[in-house]
Amino acid sequence: LAGVPGFPLPSIHTQQAYDPQSDFTARWTRADALQIKAHSDATVAAGQNSLPAQLTMPNIPADFPVINPDVWVWDTWTLIDKHADQFSYNGWEVIFCLTADPNAGYGFDDRHVHARIGFFYRRAGIPASRRPVNGGWTYGGHLFPDGASAQVYAGQTYTNQAEWSGSSRLMQIHGNTVSVFYTDVAFNRDANANNITPPQAIITQTLGRIHADFNHVWFTGFTAHTPLLQPDGVLYQNGAQNEFFNFRDPFTFEDPKHPGVNYMVFEGNTAGQRGVANCTEADLGFRPNDPNAETLQEVLDSGAYYQKANIGLAIATDSTLSKWKFLSPLISANCVNDQTERPQVYLHNGKYYIFTISHRTTFAAGVDGPDGVYGFVGDGIRSDFQPMNYGSGLTMGNPTDLNTAAGTDFDPSPDQNPRAFQSYSHYVMPGGLVESFIDTVENRRGGTLAPTVRVRIAQNASAVDLRYGNGGLGGYGDIPANRADVNIAGF
Ligand code: FRU
Repeated sequence: LAGVPGFPLPSIHTQQAYDPQSDFTARWTRADALQIKAHSDATVAAGQNSLPAQLTMPNIPADFPVINPDVWVWDTWTLIDKHADQFSYNGWEVIFCLTADPNAGYGFDDRHVHARIGFFYRRAGIPASRRPVNGGWTYGGHLFPDGASAQVYAGQTYTNQAEWSGSSRLMQIHGNTVSVFYTDVAFNRDANANNITPPQAIITQTLGRIHADFNHVWFTGFTAHTPLLQPDGVLYQNGAQNEFFNFRDPFTFEDPKHPGVNYMVFEGNTAGQRGVANCTEADLGFRPNDPNAETLQEVLDSGAYYQKANIGLAIATDSTLSKWKFLSPLISANCVNDQTERPQVYLHNGKYYIFTISHRTTFAAGVDGPDGVYGFVGDGIRSDFQPMNYGSGLTMGNPTDLNTAAGTDFDPSPDQNPRAFQSYSHYVMPGGLVESFIDTVENRRGGTLAPTVRVRIAQNASAVDLRYGNGGLGGYGDIPANRADVNIAGF
């Protein structure tokens, strides 16, 4: 393998599978992540896209349509079974979204503490070309009865309580029980949004039922909310160790290699006190005598140890998925990135892919990459995962100039590509379709569903399919089911 001149080689990852119960954690190393910069074009004019075209999400037009002017949506997921096939129900497609009220007096960037899970539905089986341009989704309202998710924090002090991301699982085919796994969060903040006490995040389960008639879709239940997991401070960092800890976004699945065993992946951080300068040579991952390697001391001196994301794993200890036990993290990103969000397991051609979303602004000092979706491939749910595409991890990023300061979605740099924050929260669906939400396009804020795009995935490489849709952009919010559930009793 020839490297890029001036850059180190990526770490060697065998993709070998390990016992899911073992304590092997794969590393997304600095040597890996530096391949993103290595394959970025240092010569583009400021504000252009410096990323390889095949790893760049096509430009979203600034005149994008909105799904519904009276509700902001961001993180979105589908109704899945144990293998992440997406189901329509009695002829209706359903999506679940984090939502907030655009008419309630706060701005889009303050939505997180107000997040409620909402749902939308549309008729299944209509091609995108025959749908309304905004995807044709009807808003069904909040998924849970008012106050139900707050029960988890009954008797505790908080200023805001919110529902953050997760997943929705159809518990059996020809049934209508839906288990929602989500993150129940509570904040205790002063008027300047500083923490009085650290936030709390509890991965929670609630059961309900889906119903549909010829006119609409609705849900019942979701009244009892069962706390499943809180970070233990041993495998997963907790609020006492770091008030900025990340612990959320559960996604469950049954591993075909371990039939009947259910696992959950989620966003976490490496346990331990914030600010302890303890990344290791293994976290850096340089090959022996690589002339372009950084020294551990250089990395520690840069403060990169404030960024220590991981992708967590838990195993269900009962058949109703109401009891879970932590296992060792699947992947750590110590001194690489602080957030590996909304992880999912994706099975394709016998390989296990972990896809996760991350931000440019959560990369550690000295490493860089765009907002977008990152991927890792191995032979089992626990593997020595190899980062996708040149060993970098980048699977599809927003058009970004990595030679120019990032800015933020709420305070964009005028020199940066005006689409560097065009979308986020990408979720890879069957067939390589990828949905996400629009954040900022040419300073226009979104809070609506992005055009679906398609990635072609082969082994440890992927490419955006520019022949999909219109120059690579499919329908806005085109989130189709690939399986149909018909519940005769439910009709
Ligand atoms: C990703 C994310 C999730 C979290 C939600 C909160 O966009 O940060 O990790 O559940 O947004 O709004």
